[in-house]
Amino acid sequence: MISSNIKSLVESPSSGVIRKMFEEGAALKKKFGAENVYDFSLGNPDLDPPAKVLNAIKEVCAEETHLCHGYMPNAGYPETRAAMAKKTSLEQGVEVPFENVIMQVGAAGALNSTLKALLNPGDEVIVPAPYFVEYDHYIHNHGGEIVRVKTNDDFSLNAKNVAARLSAKTAAIIINSPNNPTGRIYSDAEITELAQVLKEHGKKTGRYPYIICDEPYRAITYNGAKVASVFDKYEYSVIGTSFAKNLSLPGERIGYVAVNPACPEAKELTSAIIFATRILGYVNAPAFFQRVLTKSWDAECDYSLYEKRSREICEVMDYAGLKYVKPEGAFYLWVKCPDKWNDDDMAFVNHLKSYNILCAPGSGFGGKGWFRIAYCCSEQTILNSKEAFKKAANDN
Ligand SMILES: Cc1ncc(COP(=O)(O)O)c(C=O)c1O
Repeated sequence: MISSNIKSLVESPSSGVIRKMFEEGAALKKKFGAENVYDFSLGNPDLDPPAKVLNAIKEVCAEETHLCHGYMPNAGYPETRAAMAKKTSLEQGVEVPFENVIMQVGAAGALNSTLKALLNPGDEVIVPAPYFVEYDHYIHNHGGEIVRVKTNDDFSLNAKNVAARLSAKTAAIIINSPNNPTGRIYSDAEITELAQVLKEHGKKTGRYPYIICDEPYRAITYNGAKVASVFDKYEYSVIGTSFAKNLSLPGERIGYVAVNPACPEAKELTSAIIFATRILGYVNAPAFFQRVLTKSWDAECDYSLYEKRSREICEVMDYAGLKYVKPEGAFYLWVKCPDKWNDDDMAFVNHLKSYNILCAPGSGFGGKGWFRIAYCCSEQTILNSKEAFKKAANDN
């Protein structure tokens, strides 16, 4: 018999709505032709991986060393961990030793291993809303409870709202910057204020909640914006990330966790995450792509192409008369449903479908009344969607 919990999740209308949309998109493209379907459903980057990565793949293929397909330490190859430690040190402005890096099966694996390591049954994880749809499941996977906290009207962090929801059960807060779905980047001042609130709570209660920085979009920023460092502001912090978005490798399932070396529990937490990686059944991150990334982690896609598309999709929204948040990074546009839809984003997204436009409803992200456009698609799709969006926004 199937678990009643999983059965109800599988059958719930909001579960897997983005994936369902993606599959419906494929069917619509077959029926109407790809050029007549505007598929903005999934954050599947359409830029090819950089040449440096493709060359590294060929090099690794050619280096058939004995046992290169074998088991390895659960944390990953030491040289790959060292490369990730160098990357994290550059990004965080803090020296991170390779021992603090644990290779993971994508950012999703990074979050699950970290939550498994941190949560006791009934512990709470704070999540500023709107947020990446899968957090609910990742937190529940490990016996935790999600605590959704409102952000400000411009979707910046509201530390006071976080402070109001801290309790003895708070194990962590997950922040995601640049943000999926809002495209917001949290400023240095926002992170500093959040760190202050958590430090005060820790001093009072003896339990310092962890900041888990989920940052697979770190490299994709516009207008030269920089993503704030967290390691220099708060000791109880970890980075969970992947190369899914910056190097267009989502199917290769490769990422890592880096634990702040200043964390008083860094050693124990690292051991716990390594253990969690093993017992969750990942055992270790994919061997082949660890070797590829050891040679190519510092490659880049041309992110200015996403920036150009962000301007184009904003122009489409202006033309259609739809309100949105101007993205600062990642490749998502967060759009308000027209007033006459009374915040029923599910109904509006269904209505968009009748114009061959596929978007993700905001409710799944904890953002009722909004919807998400993933514009990591061809420019032609964006430009061609103009009239369809205008009609859909103005019809009932
Ligand atoms: C905010 C956020 N976190 C985590 C993930 C999962 O990334 P990965 O494919 O590397 O597991 C995604 C994927 O879309 C995401 O948007």
